[in-house]
Amino acid sequence: MCGIVAYLGNKEAASILINGLRRLEYRGYDSAGIAIMNNSTIETAREVGKIRNLEDSLAGNLPAGSVGIGHTRWATHGEPSKENAHPHMDCEGNIAVIHNGIIENYAILKKALIKKGHTFKSETDTEILAHLIEELYEGNFEQAFRQALLQVEGTFGLVVISRHEPEKMYIARKGSPIVIGVGENEFFAASDVTPLIPYTRNVFYLDDDEMAVISHTGIITKTIYNMPTEKTVEKVNFDIDDIDKAGYEHYMLKEIFEQPKTIMDAMRGRLIREEGLVKLGGLAEVEDLLMNAEKIYITASGTSWHAALIGEYLLEEYCRIPVEVEYASEFRYRNPVIKKNEVVIAVSQSGETADTLAALREGRHKGAAVVGIVNTVGSTIARETQAGIYIHAGPEIGVASTKAFTSQVTAMVLITIMIARKRYMSVVQGKQLIDELLAIPEKVKQILDESDLIKEIAEAYKNERNFLYLGRGFNFPTALEGALKLKEISYIHAEGYPAAEMKHGPIALIDENMPVVFIATHDAIYDKVISNIEEVRARKGRVICIANEGDTNIEKYADHVIYIPRTYHALSPLLTVIPLQLLAYHVAVLRGCDVDQPRNLAKSVTVE
Ligand code: G6P
Repeated sequence: MCGIVAYLGNKEAASILINGLRRLEYRGYDSAGIAIMNNSTIETAREVGKIRNLEDSLAGNLPAGSVGIGHTRWATHGEPSKENAHPHMDCEGNIAVIHNGIIENYAILKKALIKKGHTFKSETDTEILAHLIEELYEGNFEQAFRQALLQVEGTFGLVVISRHEPEKMYIARKGSPIVIGVGENEFFAASDVTPLIPYTRNVFYLDDDEMAVISHTGIITKTIYNMPTEKTVEKVNFDIDDIDKAGYEHYMLKEIFEQPKTIMDAMRGRLIREEGLVKLGGLAEVEDLLMNAEKIYITASGTSWHAALIGEYLLEEYCRIPVEVEYASEFRYRNPVIKKNEVVIAVSQSGETADTLAALREGRHKGAAVVGIVNTVGSTIARETQAGIYIHAGPEIGVASTKAFTSQVTAMVLITIMIARKRYMSVVQGKQLIDELLAIPEKVKQILDESDLIKEIAEAYKNERNFLYLGRGFNFPTALEGALKLKEISYIHAEGYPAAEMKHGPIALIDENMPVVFIATHDAIYDKVISNIEEVRARKGRVICIANEGDTNIEKYADHVIYIPRTYHALSPLLTVIPLQLLAYHVAVLRGCDVDQPRNLAKSVTVE
């Protein structure tokens, strides 16, 4: 939530910041701004709306200077407006701040600062940082900066520039991610690596309660309590292609079409096919714990929570270990009963979701082993879990998660095979599952070839106001995910339900205006799903079915059928979700929605 980027070097900062903000726009996009140090004065430009509004307002007249900060906002305190856009400044215009996070005690601090004569121009929590540093400044800027950080409660990833020290940037982190990029005679700070990739691959991450002071001569890191820290510069292995649209109209479409590759990448180097085994180096330390766990909690938010649910079905089915899946936001406050021989798995694309992070900390605090399934390398959840695996899906930029979901499910399958082979699964079964998993990317490709047909179906339903998604077994979570995708990007109200549960409520909604998407793949409960479809037909509901190739029988029950290849029931979400992603995408595009940056949402929810 909120994207921040900062530059100190010998190039013009403004265009680097604006390009960086475009890459960070997925984190928030209700207003944006930059501040540039120009001959010891600070020039700012801020605008409501997307980065292109900021660019248009500057109309090519970018402020000059080679030290600067930029911010794209997702409003928490105060509506999206020019006044509330970052950077925020102190009374005298000496200090400019960009901030991601929430200052929880801002109201008290603001009151005290107003009493001391400070004048506030915005409704934001962030502005108090500029005034607090101003208030505390007595000739030593670093000291004022640190003292201010010690007074604020809440979370921050922030960068401050100041006329007192115009050739420096002060950066700090508590709870909101900050990565620092080390180029040749130039330095960067940002919320994630994407703005840095065009300039440098050498990065390091700040830890909580850590700060950095960057000048032309280098970087000093320490804790905000003034204890020196040592950092190791790592190499990020992204390409520019990973963060561009590569010719697709939207990031979301590109990411949907990347799935044959990303699913393969999630399993690459991890399978020992001949022995039906899976090797996950990142879990070596906790393999025995997982195998003998009395219970596994899986905690996550949003789409990752749906992948977690599929994890529950997989682990219970094949490993016979009790699993409980919980929304991270509930888990963190509900005081769950966690025993020492239990494991908490946190699933997160970004590795930064505030609730998921807090849930895993709660699990650790209660003595459980904590394991991460994460996409973003070096993210906080990746670093705070004692073991884990990366899903290697590459940067996911579309706000609605697609490729991360299928990679998370693939990771769940891998963990399941790894544990199950040590418990109840035979070598033959292990091999069969691995062979089928290896066949999935090709099958996903076949479904992607149906994109135009799915677009035609989308055309027929684009003006609907409600949708119901129904599935059973492994495809109940997929139904939830299909409904979430549609509502996130098209703003059509959609609900996912276990198909049979429909009778206990949603059936009341069914009439000729209610399209119902059924996941009706051929498995043990196929006939039961057909009965559910009949119940919808009897009430004039319109039916779209996701069915297996060759199932011509289904055509008599459905208005539209999207055929997909067959696979094992346990792996079917990897296929059934693809047409649902495409359906949501096409409906949203046909409705003229901003698919990559849907209203009110943010990719990485780093606030509660
Ligand atoms: C936000 C995003 C979703 C994502 C969820 C969890 O709501 O818009 O796409 O599924 O956060 O994010 P995580 O990074 O923890 O998977």
